[in-house]
Amino acid sequence: MYLTKEEERILNGESGEVMQRMFRLLVRLGDIYNADKMIPVGSVQVAGVSYKSIGDPGTEFLEDLANKGAAVQVLTFLNPAGMDLEDWETIGFPKEFAKNQLRIMKAFKDMGIVITSTCTPYLAGNLPRFREHIAWSESSAVSFSNSVIGARTNREGGPSALAAAICGRTANYGLHLWEKRQPTIKIDVNAALELNADFGALGWLVGKQVKNKIPYFTGIKNANTDHLKALGAAMAASGAVALYHVEGLTPEADLVDTKGIESLSVTQKDIKEAYATLNTGKTPDVVILGCPHASLREIATLADMVEGKSLKKPVWICTSRMMKEAADRMGFTKIIEKAGGHIVADTCMVVSPIEQMGMKTTGVNSGKAANYLPGFCKQEVVFANIQDLIDKVS
Ligand code: F3S
Repeated sequence: MYLTKEEERILNGESGEVMQRMFRLLVRLGDIYNADKMIPVGSVQVAGVSYKSIGDPGTEFLEDLANKGAAVQVLTFLNPAGMDLEDWETIGFPKEFAKNQLRIMKAFKDMGIVITSTCTPYLAGNLPRFREHIAWSESSAVSFSNSVIGARTNREGGPSALAAAICGRTANYGLHLWEKRQPTIKIDVNAALELNADFGALGWLVGKQVKNKIPYFTGIKNANTDHLKALGAAMAASGAVALYHVEGLTPEADLVDTKGIESLSVTQKDIKEAYATLNTGKTPDVVILGCPHASLREIATLADMVEGKSLKKPVWICTSRMMKEAADRMGFTKIIEKAGGHIVADTCMVVSPIEQMGMKTTGVNSGKAANYLPGFCKQEVVFANIQDLIDKVS
């Protein structure tokens, strides 16, 4: 791989031990994937933030980096943490867990990282532009930025994203290259899709079938950004899909080449079967919405649905701190809390320790959450659209 003189100096340790270690990691990745050079990145999003995911070894690794003076060079946001960083006590997160989570946040803050903790950074102040090279790691955020915004990122691991943030660069390979962004399978959708859960079911189903490919959807007549984030998140979860195109809706769909690629069709019956497969439980102990983190529109929808109701089971909607503040101002928080629900910021149902908090069956409207909850959180899942979930617990 070609390295500039400055990059060679970093690799030789002239910019300090931390930079050398981090840059070496990027160069290794570049060598493995045959990158021709390093490219600057406009922003970074780092995963591996929850104490539940990284434990003591990860916490100590981050504290060591921060103590050695590691500092990020570009705008860097974080993935969800394991708890609401402000209201953790009221919501009932365990004290010991909270203590460790706060150590992690301090280490990130000391490195100059914006301690936002969200998987929808594009809704919270980190919005890349079309064709901008970035290094993001959370799979749904990677999918959204590649597909809906047309920015360019591989699905980084936590350490490689951190290295890109500290070095301000990443290796030029994979989805940074136009030729690697071409669709490899066409998905013809012959089904009516209306709600986030429908898009989540479609994404989960397609992800399972296409695994790592780049789908090109036809037949999706309309979808807002909430629908597209639900679709991409589910495909990323079940099939590691990091980029998809939707005819007439996503920015690169008119530019890519679909000639001669294989195709697959999805019917209403397939969507119905996906709903059935994702349902492993019957009565939810808790309903948790906001996977990926909810937009203000999704919070408003929930507020509208629960206004004047009395919820019999806890209902959370997970979101970023920024959306929560907007919801506070709009009065949505009060409405949801009056009904017995919570807007939970900075965390989500998968990375928080819900299994330690007595929850066994979780109701979700997200294909991604439904995919991960059984394995990561030992949960049975009730997968349904938001109205049906609220009806079940009202
Ligand atoms: Fe975000 Fe957690 Fe879902 S990180 S995409 S809300 S599993």
